[in-house]
Amino acid sequence: MKIREILAIAEERLRNGGVESPELEARWIVEFVFGKAFIGLFNEVDYDDSKTEQVDRYIDRRLDGEPLQLVLGEWDFFGRAFAFERGVFIPRPETEGLVELALRYLADYPAVGFEFGIGSGAISVSLLCERPQLRMVAIDVNPLALELSRKNASKHGVEDRLELLPASEFEAGEERFDFVIGNPPYILSSEMAELPREVRYDPPEALDGGEDGLREIRKIIDISKNGLKSGGFILIEIHEKKAVETSGLFTKGFSKTKIFRDLAGKDRYLLAFKE
Ligand SMILES: C[S@@+](CC[C@H](N)C(=O)[O-])C[C@H]1O[C@@H](n2cnc3c(N)ncnc32)[C@H](O)[C@@H]1O
Repeated sequence: MKIREILAIAEERLRNGGVESPELEARWIVEFVFGKAFIGLFNEVDYDDSKTEQVDRYIDRRLDGEPLQLVLGEWDFFGRAFAFERGVFIPRPETEGLVELALRYLADYPAVGFEFGIGSGAISVSLLCERPQLRMVAIDVNPLALELSRKNASKHGVEDRLELLPASEFEAGEERFDFVIGNPPYILSSEMAELPREVRYDPPEALDGGEDGLREIRKIIDISKNGLKSGGFILIEIHEKKAVETSGLFTKGFSKTKIFRDLAGKDRYLLAFKE
């Protein structure tokens, strides 16, 4: 079979299965299996069946609702390839905006940052790659997340500047962090049942922020009360409908609290400085 035929079949299967961007996804899957250079250059070359079977298997999984990041096991975040595994939260595109904002406030100096809920390592590893003098301490309640972060940190050569700890073993200490960053679980418990099909691949503890969606943000504030240096900043991703309520948590001990919007124009990030 020729690449253009494989692409056409893949696209049709994805379209019939109700996948939102069948053309793009077909291309990504076929590129992943055959390698980018093959598309275009080798459109007319015949291929053996083993690779087309692999494309079919990936599409089967996609049609079962599995996110592409897990099907392929790899995806880009902030311009770098990260490994993704089942059981660990898959970062969303808006979290790239959080990294971009952090970099705006973070010059390259020997700073120490703290990440609450590292997941795949997308945020911390990106920051460490962009700021060579930075060190990060990061925690998670999910042991699979700590393992995957370690893998992604070594994939990008920053593992010696990243300290990973289970949340239960972490102690904030006294004013040792220059900033605190996080994309905590912020979905309201009452919203959990209505989430789209693909989100069900994310572990619930990565999403559920309790009754008012703010439970984990309160924990970040508690950690920051001791662990964050005076003058340091907290930068977190927030629920688009909770900007006012979330800002309200930062009235005591923090100042210059500011909400930023994501590319879709939704209130998505909160920045506050410790007094
Ligand atoms: C929305 S995910 C974000 C993961 C990653 N930072 C990202 O942006 O892709 C939230 C993460 O927080 C972790 N988490 C939930 N509760 C936590 C807690 N109390 N302490 C530490 N980590 C927690 C989850 O396991 C999950 O990995």
